[in-house]
Amino acid sequence: MQTIRGFRDILPETISLWQKVEKEATQLFEAFGFKEIRIPVLEKTELFARSIGEATDIVEKEMYTFADRKGDKLTLRPEATASIVRSYVQHKMYASDPVRKFFMTGPMFRRERPQKGRYRQFYQIDAEVFGIDSPYMDSQLIFILHELFKRLGLTGLSAHINSLGCPECRPSFQSALLKFLESRKDRLCENCLRRMDKNPLRILDCKMSECKDALTDAPSTLDHLCPVCKDHFETVKRTLETQGVDFMVDKTLVRGLDYYTRTAWEIQTTTLGAQSSVAGGGRYDGLVAELGGPPTPAIGFAIGFDRLVEVLEQMEAPLEPPLDLFIVSLGDAAVEKAYFWSCELNRKGVSTELDFRGKSMKALMKRADKLKAGHVLIAGENELAQNTVLLRNMATTEQVSLTLDHLVWI
Ligand code: HAM
Repeated sequence: MQTIRGFRDILPETISLWQKVEKEATQLFEAFGFKEIRIPVLEKTELFARSIGEATDIVEKEMYTFADRKGDKLTLRPEATASIVRSYVQHKMYASDPVRKFFMTGPMFRRERPQKGRYRQFYQIDAEVFGIDSPYMDSQLIFILHELFKRLGLTGLSAHINSLGCPECRPSFQSALLKFLESRKDRLCENCLRRMDKNPLRILDCKMSECKDALTDAPSTLDHLCPVCKDHFETVKRTLETQGVDFMVDKTLVRGLDYYTRTAWEIQTTTLGAQSSVAGGGRYDGLVAELGGPPTPAIGFAIGFDRLVEVLEQMEAPLEPPLDLFIVSLGDAAVEKAYFWSCELNRKGVSTELDFRGKSMKALMKRADKLKAGHVLIAGENELAQNTVLLRNMATTEQVSLTLDHLVWI
């Protein structure tokens, strides 16, 4: 039996990097006032269709959707934002305190064509903020990403930022875009032509090379921003500059989901081939109201966990969790003693291994090497008869004889 296409096991050999990233992210989020939230993997299809948008690639062709036994249409979550908004509205969190900051980590599902950095089950580290419309929040989220990547020792990433405007400035942009698209109609793919009526902004996100070429001089939202959106974007840029966060304004960045307003961004790398986006996010000030809550500004981002780990793997060897101590025990009496000692040491948090198979000293030392033990405790029949053991430092090969009184855990 094999995993299904685009799904994979994350094996123990690579898990230390996943754990390191998760630990750093959790510490950082908590320091910035975020609380963990856990949401279901399965939701009503309608939630994603309404939030992400009917005419997006995700909703049109990538969702794992099925009818359950009662015929309800359900979908494996392709992202977390919609569910977290649903939770915020369902539990009326806005009533006691509209300002909420959440983070979560977990699997997402999109039926895309699998390749390096792109899977059908992938993981995201997601952060969302509700109730704050200040541009400082936009800057702070980009700053948090910048800080996390710095702590992980990542280099060579660039933040691309854009402003997608608000319902005030959209109509002027949309009509300029439609006029431009009409003039390029003969160069657009069928999918784009179909989307012209439904959702022309999505055409700017088309991955087909002919469309990309036809759209190089397409109008930009930046030329149509209303004064409030303009000011907002200026403050975001100014504060990022002051904080020393490298970014570039990328007027072609539109993101693949419909809910965005104002600031949108992606953190890109050049080291993962076609899958260059390691994280993406933006403001979505209309979504809470769209899903039945009171008008509430909101903003967030998601990091592609698999991609982040892949970038880290290219930079460093995965950290093996080191074994503190291997006990080499020779003879039945020593094996029994070693068994008690290892239980006691493990209980106290010292990772300890031993081998019950009655192997030779040479074989056991080999095993200690293989497990990358920091120290080896050698308890042979002769040593025990004299109430001693040997402790060997595997890095320096220094070896000391200890009496059993030294073994404080006994
Ligand atoms: P997204 O850009 O669709 O945004 O996904 C965020 C990140 O997830 C991407 O930058 C990428 O690193 C990773 N990702 C997406 N698809 C795959 C895949 N098939 N395989 C591996 N990694 C993938 C969102 O999901 C929004 N919910 C982000 C957000 C949160 N916006 C506001 N709040």
